[in-house]
Amino acid sequence: MKKIGSTLLLAALSFTSNAQQAANRPTMVAGFPVNYSEDSAGNYTLPDLLKCTDGQAVTSAKIWTQKRRPELVKMVEEIQFGKMPPAPKDLKFNAFDKGTPALNGKAIRKQVTVYLTKDTSDHKMNLLIYLPAASKKPVPMLLNISFAAYNQIIDDQGLLVGNIWKDGKKIKADKPSVFGKMDVEQFMDAGIGFATVYYGDIEPDFKDGINYGIRKEYLKPGQTQTADNEWGAIAAWSWGLSRALDYFETEKQIDAKRVALQGASRLGKTVLWAGIRDERFKVVVASISGEGGAALSRRNYGETIRHISDPSRYLYQFAPNYHTFAERVNEMPFDAHALVALMAPRPLLLQTGSTDYWSDPKGEYLSAVAAAPVYQLFNKKGPQTPQMPAAGDTSLLLNELGYYMHEGGHGVLPEDWKHIVSYLKKYL
Ligand code: GCU
Repeated sequence: MKKIGSTLLLAALSFTSNAQQAANRPTMVAGFPVNYSEDSAGNYTLPDLLKCTDGQAVTSAKIWTQKRRPELVKMVEEIQFGKMPPAPKDLKFNAFDKGTPALNGKAIRKQVTVYLTKDTSDHKMNLLIYLPAASKKPVPMLLNISFAAYNQIIDDQGLLVGNIWKDGKKIKADKPSVFGKMDVEQFMDAGIGFATVYYGDIEPDFKDGINYGIRKEYLKPGQTQTADNEWGAIAAWSWGLSRALDYFETEKQIDAKRVALQGASRLGKTVLWAGIRDERFKVVVASISGEGGAALSRRNYGETIRHISDPSRYLYQFAPNYHTFAERVNEMPFDAHALVALMAPRPLLLQTGSTDYWSDPKGEYLSAVAAAPVYQLFNKKGPQTPQMPAAGDTSLLLNELGYYMHEGGHGVLPEDWKHIVSYLKKYL
């Protein structure tokens, strides 16, 4: 985590030059070499999105929606992220801050504790909400999932000091974090509400985190591990995002039919899966989601399933089944282009960085190109040519299936937020 934290921070501050980033490319991870040469990225054939398992051609939006989409969702669930439970019966909310003027008068702030289990002593997710003060009608929202407690990423007096996980323990988040600060006012100015949760309130992000997180509560008696097709941490985080949306549905000042999601890195993978699983989310912005997110797995470039699903690294974030494809990626019945296509026809923006080689921004672009025919079934547009756009090119932000690559590394830059806000203004 430390490494990731500082990479994000460096990227956020834009201090890393391309040369430095290149020098930082890990060449061996979990004992496996990492390829960064286009010449060795390999030849592969992607599974045909427009052909059902029984061979039927997908020639209409109806066949996609009724037959192909459900079978693909099931495959991704069984193999990659794992099955997750439905909304809990005992979900409860405590809005302990019911509306306080904040952010130079631009916002009304609310803070809510979301109790994920009946027992309210544990499994509490703190939800921070800002609504544009000027708005007279229910507002659309961006829901962000963050690596830090909300009091660490937003400058505002009166925020609850949350807890964070550090070295396997829960501690008070009373010190600054390495993650950058969030500029919430830009959302208020655009008439969009902003909400955020800390991912560790749902499930901690380390190998045996299941012993402390929400997944523990769903283990059957005698079960200490999840089954091979059951949820990893990413699915747990996604599930938590749906619980925030459950709260929005109770809140008159929020238009719960217009909620967008955003997260970066492993949380970019998380928002993608949350948007696929929960079709109440209207828009997804997946930042630098990389392997296990929008980047093609069959392309041998940067991180691969071998690296990410190694038990010494991030297998706990996925269904255990995922690892069985580490050495046979070509046998996987889907690839990341399916994840992208499963959002169709809803708007999806992929945000990447040109020197984020580990996450393979080109692999994300090619994934979007391969998913575009599915958007096309709904008369929605995605990228059309295999030619990568240059860093900073904003033309693909105009499509429902959007793509934007900043000049720089693994992070979400202030310029990215500007583009995200204008994309949301268009599509939310
Ligand atoms: C690691 C991991 C990536 C992940 C990233 C992050 O680098 O290999 O798959 O996206 O952490 O979450 O920052």
